[in-house]
Amino acid sequence: MPKVALITGADRGLGLGLTQRLLASGWTVIAGKFLDWPELDALQASFPERLIQVSLDVSSDSSVAQAVAEVQLRLDGIDLLICNAAIQRSAEVQSITEDLNFDHMIAEFNTNTLGALRVTNAFFPMLQASSMKRLCYVSSEAGSIAESKRTGWFGYCMSKAALNMAVKNMHNDLSHQGYSFRLYHPGWMRTYMSGAKNQEAHYEPDEAADFALKHFLSAVDESQVRLVDWQGNEMPW
Ligand SMILES: NC(=O)c1ccc[n+]([C@@H]2O[C@H](COP(=O)([O-])OP(=O)(O)OC[C@H]3O[C@@H](n4cnc5c(N)ncnc54)[C@H](OP(=O)(O)O)[C@@H]3O)[C@@H](O)[C@H]2O)c1
Repeated sequence: MPKVALITGADRGLGLGLTQRLLASGWTVIAGKFLDWPELDALQASFPERLIQVSLDVSSDSSVAQAVAEVQLRLDGIDLLICNAAIQRSAEVQSITEDLNFDHMIAEFNTNTLGALRVTNAFFPMLQASSMKRLCYVSSEAGSIAESKRTGWFGYCMSKAALNMAVKNMHNDLSHQGYSFRLYHPGWMRTYMSGAKNQEAHYEPDEAADFALKHFLSAVDESQVRLVDWQGNEMPW
């Protein structure tokens, strides 16, 4: 039986690149679909059995519950979870002296931090059913307190720092039960986080997906969880 991965935010960007690569490597992929972009539909013809598209808004309890119900009808377990979905709404804010949009920050927390917890929690019975139990979280250098040079971007930076803490707590809880964790900064990618495709960034998401999968599927010392970048370097928290 092919191994099974669940990827959130698989419509575009890094999530789509990860979906394509895992499918090409023989995995079954449950691809969390957020909006109606055409890219996943275009892949479906090539992988009619192994690509399973599921509507999944990680910021919504009911959407996540519905996704769990749908996936449980088709599969018994999930081997690899990749919590990738995120939004960025706060980059234009450079200083505490500016007007702050707290609704934007709440949305960033709900998607980037709580979304990862919500999905892990709701799919936990399916993760428990697998022997692989690999849980991967796409964070960012923006969440590293030690490396921080920004003066604003409050919601995004804080949501990623909080995600790092959540992953550390889950590692404390679950690493002795056979679960392994990857916490990852994918580098600066030409993706859609800022609304339009960023043409100035360093990597196409396809290339970034190669680096990411190498780390997600590699053997590492599982006694600690580390924030690792796309070059395999450990980053300070
Ligand atoms: N881009 C970078 O340079 C960079 C750097 C460091 C870390 N990261 C991290 O890398 C990950 C992937 O980002 P990306 O650059 O590939 O961005 P992206 O192109 O915007 O992809 C993010 C994906 O998440 C989806 N999404 C947004 N809100 C969602 C929700 N509530 N529920 C489910 N899915 C949702 C998006 O759907 P829509 O496209 O329909 O909105 C999109 O498919 C994120 O965790 C990001 O924080 C990115």
